[in-house]
Amino acid sequence: MKKALITGINGQDGAYLANLLLKKNYKIYGLIRRGSTNRLYRLEYLNIKDRINFIYGELNEFQNLQNEILRIKPDLIFNLAAQSFVKYSFDNPTYTYEINCVSVLNILECLRRNKLFKIKFYTAGTSEMFGNISGKKKLKIDEKTPMQPCSPYGNSKVAAHNLTSIYRESYGLFACSGILFNHESPLRGEEFVTKKIVKNLVEQKYSKKTILYLGNLDSKRDWGHAEDYVEAMYLMLKSKKPFNYVISTGKTYSVREFFTKVAVKLGFEPIFKKKGKLEVCIDKKTNRIIMKTSKKYFRENELSYLKGNSIMAKKKIGWKPKFNIDTLIDDMISYELKNQNVQK
Ligand code: NAP
Ligand code: GDD
Repeated sequence: MKKALITGINGQDGAYLANLLLKKNYKIYGLIRRGSTNRLYRLEYLNIKDRINFIYGELNEFQNLQNEILRIKPDLIFNLAAQSFVKYSFDNPTYTYEINCVSVLNILECLRRNKLFKIKFYTAGTSEMFGNISGKKKLKIDEKTPMQPCSPYGNSKVAAHNLTSIYRESYGLFACSGILFNHESPLRGEEFVTKKIVKNLVEQKYSKKTILYLGNLDSKRDWGHAEDYVEAMYLMLKSKKPFNYVISTGKTYSVREFFTKVAVKLGFEPIFKKKGKLEVCIDKKTNRIIMKTSKKYFRENELSYLKGNSIMAKKKIGWKPKFNIDTLIDDMISYELKNQNVQK
């Protein structure tokens, strides 16, 4: 039986990836922090918690990580654990750097020092590494686009990405840093904007009437579904040659457009009104304020536009997303409705 080790297994992507690999008959080992034991709800939701072999450890603890890799001898390693919230990285840059970069170096070093050249390694790169490179021309980003990160998070991921390429080229390791654009799902963390919008608007519609507070409504993202994106991770490690592919839908929407789509699907009639530098959104049907912008949610430095080009992934590893923005939103809404026991 083939074995896969997944760090960050209790995160959004870790849970979906474990589900996918179990279906492909892999034995799954999942690294988690000891403090995370009560945060296994995603694995419980997918009904796979009891099929995971958990390993407790900290990502930046080299010796522990090395012992586990030598003990398990996995065929595949997916390093998904990270401090993944961009806004938090402005307040805690050192921690973000240590977890997101030093941990990758630890795994690469472990593979090199122990000559584990048969293990295939994937680490989670990100579209945040490009920063505002596409600028006013609003170019589609591909594998050749230069990286100009505009957040400590983005910078930590560029360092990890470059180290992965360096180890691949210098020592012949099968190591890939997948350049994934934003991907969401019902199991998305609640601090991220899509989940925040969907969860709050469903609550406003059916239970609590708490106004939603958001930051920049005009930044644009290329949003896909996590289920499609974990498939790309798997395909990258199954391919003959390691390569850092861009994974994206090629479509972009603003936060305002995402909010409006969700609101309309739930039967609101959203009207936006400027209030100085801030904005409010009123539901025309009830004349009630449903959203306000707040300075608290604006970023120190904003990445304002992301749109990817995944032609290379389509050609070389046969990856193509099944979800679009509407089916993604429908999936997220339906999860929240079920969670709140709403009969449609
Ligand atoms: P997520 O839901 O935030 O999950 C992050 C995981 O990392 C959690 O399991 C978390 O465990 C774990 N982790 C954090 N710090 C750790 C530490 N010190 N030691 C061990 N584990 C630790 O993130 P995601 O959305 O699944 O994303 C997966 C990866 O892809 C991340 O590396 C992210 O940066 C990257 N990425 C995500 C996207 C996206 O749109 N989702 C796009 C591009 C790249 P706890 O429960 O203990 O915190
Ligand atoms: N989180 C959040 N909360 N974002 C808001 C809010 C809010 O209240 N209001 C507006 N936004 C805007 C942010 O300023 C940003 O422009 C956009 O919504 C998306 O924010 P997030 O959902 O937090 O995602 P992100 O793009 O910063 O980062 C995600 O995608 C990256 C890939 O590009 C994360 O998953 C990263 O880990 C990932 O690498």
